[in-house]
Amino acid sequence: MKQFILTIAGGGSTYTPGIVKSLLMNKDRFKLKELRLYDIDGERQEKVALIAAKVIEEYDKEVKLITTTDPEEAFKEADFIFSQMRVGKYKMREQDEKIPLKYGVVGQETCGPGGLAYGMRTIFPMIELIDLVEKYASKDHWIVNYSNPASIVAEGIRRLRPKARVLNICDMPVGVMRNMAAILKVDRNSLVVDYFGLNHFGWFTRVMVDGVDRLPELRSHGEKHGLLVEDMSKVDAQHSDPSWIKNYKNIKYMLSFFPDYIPNPYLQYYLLGDKVVSEMDKNRTRANEVMEGREKKLFDAVEEYKATGRVDLSSFYVGVHGQFIVDVAISLAYNLRKRFLVIVENKGAISNFPSDAMVEVPAYITSDGPEVVRIGEIPTFYRGMMEQQLASEKLMVDACLEGSYNKALMALTMNKTVPSAFTAKKLLDDFILANKGYWPELK
Ligand code: NAD
Ligand code: G6P
Ligand code: MN
Repeated sequence: MKQFILTIAGGGSTYTPGIVKSLLMNKDRFKLKELRLYDIDGERQEKVALIAAKVIEEYDKEVKLITTTDPEEAFKEADFIFSQMRVGKYKMREQDEKIPLKYGVVGQETCGPGGLAYGMRTIFPMIELIDLVEKYASKDHWIVNYSNPASIVAEGIRRLRPKARVLNICDMPVGVMRNMAAILKVDRNSLVVDYFGLNHFGWFTRVMVDGVDRLPELRSHGEKHGLLVEDMSKVDAQHSDPSWIKNYKNIKYMLSFFPDYIPNPYLQYYLLGDKVVSEMDKNRTRANEVMEGREKKLFDAVEEYKATGRVDLSSFYVGVHGQFIVDVAISLAYNLRKRFLVIVENKGAISNFPSDAMVEVPAYITSDGPEVVRIGEIPTFYRGMMEQQLASEKLMVDACLEGSYNKALMALTMNKTVPSAFTAKKLLDDFILANKGYWPELK
């Protein structure tokens, strides 16, 4: 069996230990020779690497671990690169969430103004990463990219590096499918879904289990409880914080208005904006919850390890997040043609939607990349919403590449979460100040 060299870019991420564990638990299907962690913050990464080393000791001692901030050492002859960088880290996520809330607008890291701001920070670092990988990695490498905001990052890559061997993915649909499977009491892997949308902006149109569409049952459950079962934490630690429980509950309102399809929970920021904002705390957002929760738990475990030599392997989780990226990589590596939802250029898959849009749809994952499933036409309501969001995101990418203040203002004004051009301008001016050193200069 071939043994792979795999690099995690953003090695200092809170998700690294879980992804490493997921990789090693799959060693019989996907054997690693070397695991490399690469980050621009060496200090943070060294800490996370202590836990990763323990995971290796526990699950597959044969794997060689390299931790580096040097791109050549990181990517030389690498077969796979998992990218999960957070440009500006949680400090900037906090800004993305809190600046909009100052003006009564949705404060979210990937949706609305926060997502646009995060996108503007991430496009160029992502292109830089692709160039480094292309310089050093194996010719037929694959970059599997989780770095958010995935829609905008994917659009930036489409424009600047259209031939790059990047597959952009998101774990939200698999998170929803995990919950659907728990509600239906079936195995998550037995679900075959139809879905269309943009990233963090899409709908399930069919949920097949053994040849039967179970969407009607999920709709009845969802109209009452959202997409939750009683004790979600028993299903998976990922998405079990109170704010995530609320996200899955809010599906019930969306379904009560628009029962045809099951919405991605992120649509609440566009469809239930006033409710969501009224329930957000402008002084304590999800970034704070994550810093005090997932991040603290992991780094406390690092300190405990340094002090006692013992590692608490429950200080992190694999979750659908860790499982999904490994499943996708295995399908790429062995041409398994497994069906997953991925982010790809539309090229007619949704026939009444722009060909050059990056959309999230089912595809069969081969060693040459995704073979996209054709969706056909989508109804006006969904198409209209998607077109508005697509225009907003495309304008933000224009703004980034052209250094255009006016395009950025249009992007914010276009977004459904923003009530007027007055508010859009205030947001933009605040974001420019907060993102000094991260954003390109806008003129
Ligand atoms: P984190 O802050 O814990 O980790 C991110 C790491 O990226 C940090 O160690 C940081 O130093 C590093 N980094 C920043 N800029 C970099 C660069 N230019 N090159 C290399 N490394 C760089 O963040 P996290 O919460 O663990 O999330 C990591 C990323 O994964 C984020 O982009 C997040 O949005 C994304 N994510 C995406 C999905 C999805 O569905 N697509 C799901 C979960 C997380
Ligand atoms: C989901 C989304 C990701 C996002 C994450 C945030 O999993 O698919 O794109 O990064 O949620 O979760 P967090 O726990 O950091 O708020
Ligand atoms: Mn996502």
